[in-house]
Amino acid sequence: MDVIKLGLGGFGTVGSGLAKILDMNADRIAKKLGKKIEIKSVLVRDLNKKRAFDLGPGATFTDDLDTLVNDPDIDIIVELMGGLDTAKDLMFKSFAAGKHVVTANKHLLAEHGLELFDAAKDNNVALMFEASCAGGIPIVQTLKESLAGDEVQKMLGIMNGTANYILSEMTTKGMDFETALADAQDLGYAEADPTFDIEGFDTAHKLCVLIRMAYGVDYPLSDIPVQGITSVTPMDIEFAREFGYRVKLLAHVMDVDGQLEAGVHPALVPYTYLLARVGGNYNAVRLEGNAVGPIMLHGQGAGDLPTGSAVLADIMGIARQLDCTCSNVDNTGFGNQPIPKANILPPEQSESKYYFRFTVADRAGVMAAITKSMADHGVSIAQAVQKGEAGAEGVPLVIISHETKAKDADAMLREMDAMDFCVEPCVKFRIL
Ligand code: NAP
Ligand code: HSE
Repeated sequence: MDVIKLGLGGFGTVGSGLAKILDMNADRIAKKLGKKIEIKSVLVRDLNKKRAFDLGPGATFTDDLDTLVNDPDIDIIVELMGGLDTAKDLMFKSFAAGKHVVTANKHLLAEHGLELFDAAKDNNVALMFEASCAGGIPIVQTLKESLAGDEVQKMLGIMNGTANYILSEMTTKGMDFETALADAQDLGYAEADPTFDIEGFDTAHKLCVLIRMAYGVDYPLSDIPVQGITSVTPMDIEFAREFGYRVKLLAHVMDVDGQLEAGVHPALVPYTYLLARVGGNYNAVRLEGNAVGPIMLHGQGAGDLPTGSAVLADIMGIARQLDCTCSNVDNTGFGNQPIPKANILPPEQSESKYYFRFTVADRAGVMAAITKSMADHGVSIAQAVQKGEAGAEGVPLVIISHETKAKDADAMLREMDAMDFCVEPCVKFRIL
């Protein structure tokens, strides 16, 4: 039986997950492909590190990138290192050597995806990246193939396993943020630098990649408004629960009269919605196509086997085509056409219902001043509650608004933050 040989860049959580699946499902893979898949060589930083899974006979570790790229036996390079510089170097050199590439690196794709698509196209090789977005959920192929003929009107989802794990543990077990983050790191969910997870940047990387696949346009990373979960306190989770919501880190993009509105924010999700029930390291993406209507995909968004499963699907997709003399590999789903910049709705024009939390001195006239400022800026109140003891240094006052333009909400908050009765910065989250 023919053997497809892989060169792996990286053998951490995802790399070892892939190796485990190749071993566990070897018979099934051979049956489906009529070929075996084997790891030939693995690029790592530290050749002396003890590995989570044994590579088996015939495969070797190296710390020299060119060993992978120049090995004529290697058919597919699988980049699972993360980071920008070395990963980019490996991918460009692989394309130049005529090798197909599979990657899980959403950060690199978000920052340098357009150059990478161009380089892959110039060398007529595949660049596949299912594992880069939402772990084991087949969202990239869904957008590229299954919904190829639909206009995507809206995409909304939970796209970071670490942040969702932390919020879930805080909500269901009352766990503190730091302990939940440490757990997520131990479980292999977090990025090498977990700031990317908790500050929302990893979600923004995925959103940037998925916008290209859904709309065929580039929504630059630097234009995506991003708010992470470090501003979410146990108090906000409790208030949200009392109002009938769960707090989730959401990414969204929608077509607003021909302009795209996108962002990453913690949001209060009505507890009856499926998205509110997505727990632990699970992710979910809800899509609305103009023909198919709403679709919801749900699955593990991080971890060794779920992510390895998505990487393997890409490898098998390429393996199926290796025998074809394909004259034009389409990596983007838009025939490798140039990807123009998105027509972007200015974020201040976006509209949402909001949760505002003010920490205020408990004295006469405070509520009147806040509601006056809200009225002045056209922010309409739906619900309000204040808790705490009179005379305390600051008490939480929570107001839920009706639909409001972001610029009006922000102008009101700037005014309130300058008031002497606001003893802490005001907090604002969107409500779905
Ligand atoms: P990881 O556990 O930190 O493993 C990274 C691997 O890459 C290690 O084996 C490391 O070598 C190697 N490496 C890193 N920098 C290198 C360099 N400059 N030269 C040579 N080798 C290098 O990372 P991971 O969690 O598997 O993530 C890998 C990629 O998958 C990232 O892009 C990540 O965003 C993405 N991803 C991860 C998950 C997940 O659940 N973890 C899910 C989806 C996507 P040493 O072992 O010698 O240090
Ligand atoms: N760190 C990422 C997460 C890995 O937690 O979702 C999956 O992309």
